[in-house]
Amino acid sequence: MTRKHSSLRGRTLINLFFENSTRTRTSFRAWPAKRLGGDVINMSVGTSSIKKGETLIDTAMTLNAMHPDVLVVRHADSGAVHLLAEKVNCSVINAGDGTHEHPTQALLDALTIRRRLGRGLEGLTVAICGDIAHSRVARSNIHLMAIMGARVRAVAPPTLIPAGLERMGVEIHHDMERGLADVDIIMMLRLQTERMKGSFVPSIREYYRLYGLDYEKLKVAKPDALIMHPGPMNRGVEIASEVADDIDRSLIREQVEMGVAVRMACLDALVSAQVAPVGKEPVIHIRDERADDPHNLQKCPLARPGKRSRRARRGVGRGWTGGRGGSTGLHRRGPGGC
Ligand code: MLT
Repeated sequence: MTRKHSSLRGRTLINLFFENSTRTRTSFRAWPAKRLGGDVINMSVGTSSIKKGETLIDTAMTLNAMHPDVLVVRHADSGAVHLLAEKVNCSVINAGDGTHEHPTQALLDALTIRRRLGRGLEGLTVAICGDIAHSRVARSNIHLMAIMGARVRAVAPPTLIPAGLERMGVEIHHDMERGLADVDIIMMLRLQTERMKGSFVPSIREYYRLYGLDYEKLKVAKPDALIMHPGPMNRGVEIASEVADDIDRSLIREQVEMGVAVRMACLDALVSAQVAPVGKEPVIHIRDERADDPHNLQKCPLARPGKRSRRARRGVGRGWTGGRGGSTGLHRRGPGGC
């Protein structure tokens, strides 16, 4: 992408963030205006009428009346961005909705891998490790990696694997030694405590011992296996500092850099689609396809308010008995596959 490009000139982008964000918000905030020449309005919950009791639909109608060209939305509820997209006339980019999806993160992850390896993702084995139950990054990556021809493994204690995950075509492991054996890429995830209802790990110490990525656990992966993390990172919880900072194997810094490029490319593609002659629209749809999937929707609070699975209602949180291997005494619990 060229340094300065004017595809957003005369276009208005509204950033609507109902949740905190550093990387995503910054890459949708400063760069589109600076490098693509657009007008950017940043709204956060603290400054919007949502605080005064306005509903999401009211907000959508208000924003629609301002005729923005693109709306970038992050929301704590799965399905919220999809709902909003149905009510407005402009393009909508999902910048992360609840535990559901984070499409631009998956795109930037794929780009980071391609750039480092100098080839596509076909035939790679990717292990996504950690708090998959609460991770929208995991869901988007599972979809994208599969589309791009990679095999995906999910490695986590049973408490952090959402029900029905195997239906997404991933191989599930509860043990790092087996889960990381011969993998090409390791994506570590944070324990997303702000999205948790209840306790999912007996202690941080125990979690790090069994699931934290250190050089010892890394030994079973391919010798040149690469390490990724969407951030924010909790050093000493899901990843050892020296592994995160390993300049030969860690792609974490490149991921941040690629975030800017991918988000600019998405904006560029969307506004180009808006001006393309009929029948020549670029093929890029940054919308929440998964929300059309009944399996996902039934777990989305906004799609079916008040409905929770029997398993989720029951909530089987128990302590860990510890020890390595598949039988750690963990019990599955969680918000399901939303
Ligand atoms: C997200 O927004 O989901 C982040 O990029 C990953 C995280 O919060 O751990």
